Amino acid sequence: MKSFYITTAIDYVNGSPHLGHAYEKVLTDVIARFRRMMGDQVHFLTGVDEHGQKVQQSAKKKGIPPQQFADEVSAEFRALLPKLNISNDDFIRTTEERHKKVVGQVLQQLFDKGEIYKAEYKGFYSTRQEQFLQEKDRRPDGAWPEIFGEVTEIVETNYFFKLKQYQEWLVEFLTTHEDFIFPKYRQKQVLEFLKEPLNDLCVSRPRERLEWGIPLPFDGAYVTYVWFDALLNYYSAVADKPGVWPAAYHVIGKDILLPPHAVYWPIMLHAAGLALPGGIIAHGWWMTGGSKMSKSTGNALNPLDLVAEFGTDAFRYFLIREMNVGQDSDFTREQFLVRYNSELANNFGNLVNRTLNMANRFHGAVVPAAEVAEDAEKELHALWEKTREEVIPLCEGFQFHTALEKTFFFITATNAYIEKRAPWKLGKSTEAHDQALLRTSIATMAEALRLGTALLTAVMPATVEKINAVLGHSPGGNWRDELVWGAKLTGTKFAEALVLFPRPEKPKATG
Ligand code: MSP
Repeated sequence: MKSFYITTAIDYVNGSPHLGHAYEKVLTDVIARFRRMMGDQVHFLTGVDEHGQKVQQSAKKKGIPPQQFADEVSAEFRALLPKLNISNDDFIRTTEERHKKVVGQVLQQLFDKGEIYKAEYKGFYSTRQEQFLQEKDRRPDGAWPEIFGEVTEIVETNYFFKLKQYQEWLVEFLTTHEDFIFPKYRQKQVLEFLKEPLNDLCVSRPRERLEWGIPLPFDGAYVTYVWFDALLNYYSAVADKPGVWPAAYHVIGKDILLPPHAVYWPIMLHAAGLALPGGIIAHGWWMTGGSKMSKSTGNALNPLDLVAEFGTDAFRYFLIREMNVGQDSDFTREQFLVRYNSELANNFGNLVNRTLNMANRFHGAVVPAAEVAEDAEKELHALWEKTREEVIPLCEGFQFHTALEKTFFFITATNAYIEKRAPWKLGKSTEAHDQALLRTSIATMAEALRLGTALLTAVMPATVEKINAVLGHSPGGNWRDELVWGAKLTGTKFAEALVLFPRPEKPKATG
């Protein structure tokens, strides 16, 4: 079995999770479930980033110790995972011993090798971004862009990691690993960024300025820079699990690609003599009203509200269907309702109900065998073959939104097939050919429903399970085999109808 280790970013615990965080978990979960179905040995890690100034400040505001604050917010992030049906194998907190131990080891190793040195630094510092700024970060009018929050000039002695000396190596690596960053155009942006000389990376913060961090193993007057600490979670979580490292992919948002994931992380690993991950997937942002959804702007949507109203799978479906991985999407309730009502309730829900109904009404809920193959059957069958061939490569290339579009095209075509065959009319005829067509139509819609459902497994796992239960079908382990048009349901007995997507509201104008 091929090992496939996948991670999400670890969330700062300075506020409650929002839709953007939920999306990243769901996207990574869909990839993880897809790879499991393809036979890989998946290890899926997610977690929280608990150190640093942001958390220290938020705790201070609440008047509680940072550890207590981190405990509370981390619990909230953790509790979100089962609500979203996330199939993670592990959850890491950067305050855990297993993590702190590895961070200390890596720092010591780099220090011993002379990769980390002490120097005086004078410069501008952004607390919000927890980074030193450079002149080129200023706006043309000399002011600091808003994203940096308050910027102060400081002079201090710190420890620096020799990033600069690996610049050429990184350029060479990215040039020879063209698919390292998804989407591809982001890799080009990274190479553009690397045309400017890199600075060495300040990896320490003096304790008097920041208490809340991992102490440097070689100088207790300092704690570790939060990004150096956080990035190492991907490795620390599996350091004692043989055969898991390196990660196949890190899934992150586009805002943390440059420089942390595309520059610091590969260089840190290379300098420490560790293997590099297979790739980085940088997804886009969920926006509301044209700006990024975030804790600080107050426009964040609570994913739990949507889950409570529409159910986990409808929520997962919407996120994956709506967003093209890598691009931004605006979240609107109207669009959510349109997809919920027209795609899930009317289109898919209807197919499930009609199939169960027809089998019940005309064949004692037992699936007959197909007897004839006329144009209608042949066309649907051919469309299936095409859909099946397209969907796997689309999923392999993270084009889940298009895979769902194709899946729903097939579901629509199956509904159209039912309309065309009109079993309710055939049922009134006593002619032998009509009766054969009736049985064939029930067999065909049942098989098409089984297959369409199979394509939804990674995105709507609980719904698929429910449908398979009423179809009396237990899918085998191999997804490719599941996707072969056959007569898998012939002779099985269907259970009662089920309501999958209850109607919360009438659809609004689609405009
Ligand atoms: N703690 C760092 C990540 C360290 S990874 C070693 C961090 N945390 S975060 O809480 O700010 O963001 C966590 C993840 O959520 C990031 O990948 C970020 O891009 C993602 N999102 C935060 N807001 C988002 C949207 N509005 N939309 C989609 N994802 C966004 O950065």
